[in-house]
This record gives sequence, structure tokens and C-alpha cells, in this order.
Amino acid sequence: MKLRVIQVGVGGFGRGWVEVLARSEEVEVVGLVDVDQQALEEAGEKLGVDELFTNFEEALGKVEADAVLDVTPPTFRTEITLKALKAGRHVLSEKPLALSMEDAKAIVRAADEAGRVYMVSQNYRFNPVPRTIRELLGERAKGKVEYVVVEFQKGPRFVGFRTEMEYPLLVDMSIHHFDLMRYLLDSDVEWVQVESFRPTWSWFRHDPSFFMVLKMADGTLISYSGSWVTRGFETTWNGRWRFACSEGSLLWDNDKLYLSAGTKGRRKAELVDMPLTNQDYSLHEFVSSIREGREPETSGRDNIRSLAVVFASVLSARTGRRVKVEELFGR
Ligand SMILES: NC(=O)c1ccc[n+]([C@@H]2O[C@H](COP(=O)([O-])OP(=O)(O)OC[C@H]3O[C@@H](n4cnc5c(N)ncnc54)[C@H](O)[C@@H]3O)[C@@H](O)[C@H]2O)c1
Repeated sequence: MKLRVIQVGVGGFGRGWVEVLARSEEVEVVGLVDVDQQALEEAGEKLGVDELFTNFEEALGKVEADAVLDVTPPTFRTEITLKALKAGRHVLSEKPLALSMEDAKAIVRAADEAGRVYMVSQNYRFNPVPRTIRELLGERAKGKVEYVVVEFQKGPRFVGFRTEMEYPLLVDMSIHHFDLMRYLLDSDVEWVQVESFRPTWSWFRHDPSFFMVLKMADGTLISYSGSWVTRGFETTWNGRWRFACSEGSLLWDNDKLYLSAGTKGRRKAELVDMPLTNQDYSLHEFVSSIREGREPETSGRDNIRSLAVVFASVLSARTGRRVKVEELFGR
């Protein structure tokens, strides 16, 4: 039987999710919720769903469903998730898990108590290049990795909450890169040291740029620089990653993966095959974890360790000090 899903937030990034649900054979969309009537009607037409609501609680009470997909802006995440879990629904949510550690912990606890699956769609890791890098590093294809250089440079002209919020890049985007670091190196982040700044030509109210150093629990050092006001020579959304290993290097550049050959040569890496990627993979992993009665790869319990790096980075940017990620867990 197909998993019956209510999608909340069908405009903005939710439009892409409507397409994902439309082509999935594992789910049936039974209700849609959005405060924007036009976005709601467009999504209803696309999916052939006429259970349309402007209020989430009403949808929850009126429509029989197994799960909720939350693609609303982060301010609504905690309320929607806690209500859905309390009503016995499984939840798949867009990133970020929450806007504070307290809320994130409350969500993880609520999912445990309800005995329901809670998963964050941390989609950047669900792609052939990161899957291949993790494999190659795991089997030490180029020896032991000791340091990593990550460069992210983009100049997007957003409209909406991102241009006004504090530390927009660190808070809204870097979660993908922090989660990739944990995934690729199969290790947690131990501490971060951040210098955050606002270039004079910035069109963001608050710092859209930073330089930072991170140390992983396995000892690997990472240099990570990012900017959302770059003019020219942009990287991709994944960024450009160099893995410096004892016998050579791996380079993830322009969404392709290269392995060093000798000291000057390079060869393109063969990538693992993935029939589903990005959000399609997230949805499949979510449905599979429910059917198999197991935790999904990016469950709340796992994802809170990526989210904590965001809050540690903001704390370091604010205070100028090195911040241990464990501090965020109150230990
Ligand atoms: N994984 C990614 O690559 C990626 C990319 C972009 C956005 N996102 C995430 O997706 C989420 C949504 O971001 P967005 O840019 O689409 O935001 P958005 O501001 O465009 O809002 C998305 C939709 O939610 C609706 N909405 C707002 N409040 C609502 C409420 N209380 N109840 C129901 N619907 C409501 C809006 O009307 C809109 O249609 C965020 O958490 C964001 O971080 C993820």
C-alpha cells in the first residue's frame, strides 16, 4: 500500500517537492496545505488532489494520512512537526531541523516518544559524487585523508527572509556543507573557529561571508570559506572540495570528481550508480525506513549533529572564540 502523505508548503521550494511526489510510485498525496491560495491551487491541479487547506491543523483533523512532508519556512517547522508527531504521523521535513537546539532536541524527543519516523531531507549527500567520495576515503584509495579545503562562492539575488536574517549563509546554507563533512569523513565535528564579515558591496543586511577552520573528531582539519556576494568565478552549490591524502588527492570541482595521478596528472573518477538522487532519494529513504521499521539515514537524531555545527559556528562568529560542538549539547 502506498504511504498517504500531506504536503505542507507547496510554493517556493515546495514546488519541486510537488514534482517529486507526482513521480513517486511509493506515495499517494491525500492533502495539501499552504497559506498562499494560488500556490495551493496550482499544486492541487498538478497532483489531482482536491483536499486543499490553508490551515495545517484542519488538514490533520480532516484527512487520513500516514505522513507529513513539511516544506514551509523554518519558523513554522517546530510547531508543524510537533503537531504532526502528536497526531501519530511520520514526518519528512526540509532542512533545517529547527531554529534552535532546544527545538531540535524537543523534535527528536517527540519522535522517539511517538514511535514515529522523523527525517530531515539533507539532499546534498544523496548524490553520486559524495557517495563515491565516502567510498574512496573509506577504502583509503589515496591513503589517509589529513586535511580538506572547501570553497563556496556564490552571488544569489534572493527575495524574502534570507536578505534580512543574521548570518544568512551560515544559518540557511552551510548546514548542507557541514552535513557533507560529517558524511564524507564519517566523523563528527569537534570544534569550529569562525571569522565572519560583510563585504562593502553586500546586498545582504548581515554578514554573508566567512572564513572558518573546523576540526573533526578523527583529527582531520578543514578550511572552509564561503560567500553569498561573490562577483564572478562562482562555484557550484556543492562548492569545491579538495581532500588532501597521504598518497594523493581527491578534487570535487564543478560537480565532477577527479583523482590525482602522480604529482601533476588527474583522472576523472568513476561514480557509483544511483537510480534516485536528491529529494527523490530522500523520499525513498523515508518510505523505506517506515516499511523496514528502522531509522532513516538522516534521522533527527543524526541531523541534530549537523545542525549543532551551525549554532556552534554562529556562536564562534559572535564571540570570536573557538567553540566545541559538544557545548551545544550541554555537556
Ligand atoms: N534542500 C534544499 O536545497 C533547499 C533549497 C531551498 C529551500 N529549502 C528549505 O525549504 C523550506 C522552504 O523554503 P522556501 O524558500 O520554499 O520558503 P518560502 O518562503 O518560499 O515558503 C514556501 C511555501 O510555504 C508556504 N507557507 C509559509 N508559511 C506557511 C504556513 N504557516 N503553513 C503552510 N504553508 C506556509 C508559503 O506560502 C510558500 O508557498 C525552508 O526550510 C528552506 O530552508 C531547502
